[in-house]
Amino acid sequence: MPNHTLISQCRKDFPILKREVNGYPLAYLDNAATTQKPKSVIDAITNFYENHNSNVSRGVYTLAEEATEIYESGRDAVANFIGAEDSGTIIFTSGTTESIKLVSSAWGQKNLKKGDRIILTEMEHHSNIVPWQLAAKSYGIELVYWPVTTEGRLDLALLEELLTNSVKLLAFTMVSNVLGCINPVEQITEIAHSHGVPVLVDSAQAVSRMSIKVSEWDCDFLAFSGHKVYGPTGIGVLYAKKERLEEMLPFQGGGGMIRHVEKQSSTWAVPPQKFEAGTPPVAQVPGLKAALEYLKQYGIKQIERHDNELTEHALNQLTEFPDLELYGPSEIQNRTGVVSFNLQNVHSHDVAQVLDESGIALRAGHHCTQVLHERLGVPATVRMSFGIYNDPSEIDRMFSALDQARAIFLH
Ligand code: ALA
Repeated sequence: MPNHTLISQCRKDFPILKREVNGYPLAYLDNAATTQKPKSVIDAITNFYENHNSNVSRGVYTLAEEATEIYESGRDAVANFIGAEDSGTIIFTSGTTESIKLVSSAWGQKNLKKGDRIILTEMEHHSNIVPWQLAAKSYGIELVYWPVTTEGRLDLALLEELLTNSVKLLAFTMVSNVLGCINPVEQITEIAHSHGVPVLVDSAQAVSRMSIKVSEWDCDFLAFSGHKVYGPTGIGVLYAKKERLEEMLPFQGGGGMIRHVEKQSSTWAVPPQKFEAGTPPVAQVPGLKAALEYLKQYGIKQIERHDNELTEHALNQLTEFPDLELYGPSEIQNRTGVVSFNLQNVHSHDVAQVLDESGIALRAGHHCTQVLHERLGVPATVRMSFGIYNDPSEIDRMFSALDQARAIFLH
């Protein structure tokens, strides 16, 4: 049985996939923006609110203890899923954006000063650019960009040249949300560390598609969002090595992150609580845990294979049309299920609108990567991005619907 058939069995787990859009079955091809939720995730959140709802790490009554246990078991599940040896290195945030902001602020304040440099890549999404621009204004640092090659990849030899003495951090994405390339985290980390430079890995697009091994890779920070891994919105994760956590100042001040508060000053709780001020995303934690368990049930290797099959299927068809321009590597090696393109002489938003009429949901625009789009020389692209429930027939439907876009706009 081909792997895609096996995986498409999971469609029944996702209630939203039963619906129609404009008279057609929904073909959801916007998984890089957010993923749909299996029933087990929805049930876990409902179950929490119906049976265990309470604040965490505060009360001593039964519900509060149950909620705290659920919350902390979610932390253990995340640590296990990303290969972290210690759950104390997992901080819950509101999403990738807040995780990166936490590093730029809590780590940045302690470690960055005028004249320092941070390396980013040209393929970062805005969550891994704008917080650093704000940090650049606050601390007087300079942002240096590691260029994207014409094939849509990073050249490791160029990194060696960029890693000068003034570089204090390298922050890069594991998978581009436009080009679909997979960057070799372990190799990049090794190169950066050989120059004494810590790394932050944005794994927002990677966690749902391939296995993550933070301890083995030795990365200093890793960030991702719950909603891109079949979990709820409003929750994210920051992994930080123990020694990094210890050198970081508090991020936000409030309840939960203190040891003792006096009128003029306070002392801090130990990490990770030190970085979780206020009421954290409590109900989202069992949702995220259920999502990770769901992925484990199918197995990340099988998910990866399925993603490769869909990507290959899409690339094979795309290269058949001379009026379609692909952005990102055309070969399948070190590439994943994010496929961006343009139909010659038609704006990407117009293409997406015509596809929506056939029930096909995909994103058009700059995908929060204006620096990359400037590098590509186009303001916008059409992007298909696959999830575990996608079937090759949905990709075929997308290519057939493109014929309609051609008919409408080019004749
Ligand atoms: N970064 C998200 C995307 O790629 C929002 O669509």
